Amino acid sequence: QATSIRADRVPDMGKRQLMNVLLLGAVSLPTGFMLVPYAAFFVPSGGRGAGGGTIAKDAIGNDVIAAEWLKTHGPRDRTLTQGLKVDPTYLVVEKDRTLATYGINAVCTHLGCVVPWNQAEKKFICPSHGSQYNDQGRVVRGPAPLSLALVHADVDDGKVVFVPWVETDFRTGEAPWWA
Ligand code: FES
Repeated sequence: QATSIRADRVPDMGKRQLMNVLLLGAVSLPTGFMLVPYAAFFVPSGGRGAGGGTIAKDAIGNDVIAAEWLKTHGPRDRTLTQGLKVDPTYLVVEKDRTLATYGINAVCTHLGCVVPWNQAEKKFICPSHGSQYNDQGRVVRGPAPLSLALVHADVDDGKVVFVPWVETDFRTGEAPWWA
């Protein structure tokens, strides 16, 4: 009996994950792996902007204006925006109501589901297999093998601009796995 239950469930799981990947754009992850080093090649070290970044877009596709965002998003807020390579990316509001200088790529490092922010737990908790990440996206529970990817969140001309993060991961002190 147990075998048939498992057999029934496995294809469902597969289908759900596939739907997640297709619907939420995580399909861009493999492309991202190839494109990030490629893009980084053209970004002078230390140089940002001037073509190196992508303006963050809100849920309805408008450019994110930093000052406006902070009027409607309070301390410790993490809200999804559209980031580099259209990856869903969290914009982070710090405790002191300033915008963090980093954004967090929401694509789970296990199998690519978009990981929701859990305000009560102060963690990102993946609904697919239970991986957890702290409020900066550092992995604290598997099966996810790695922390969520970082991007720089700069403000340029009042707008939030995401720039590839190729430096040391400040959460782990290690080289970024995604760059
Ligand atoms: Fe498996 Fe997130 S996709 S835990």
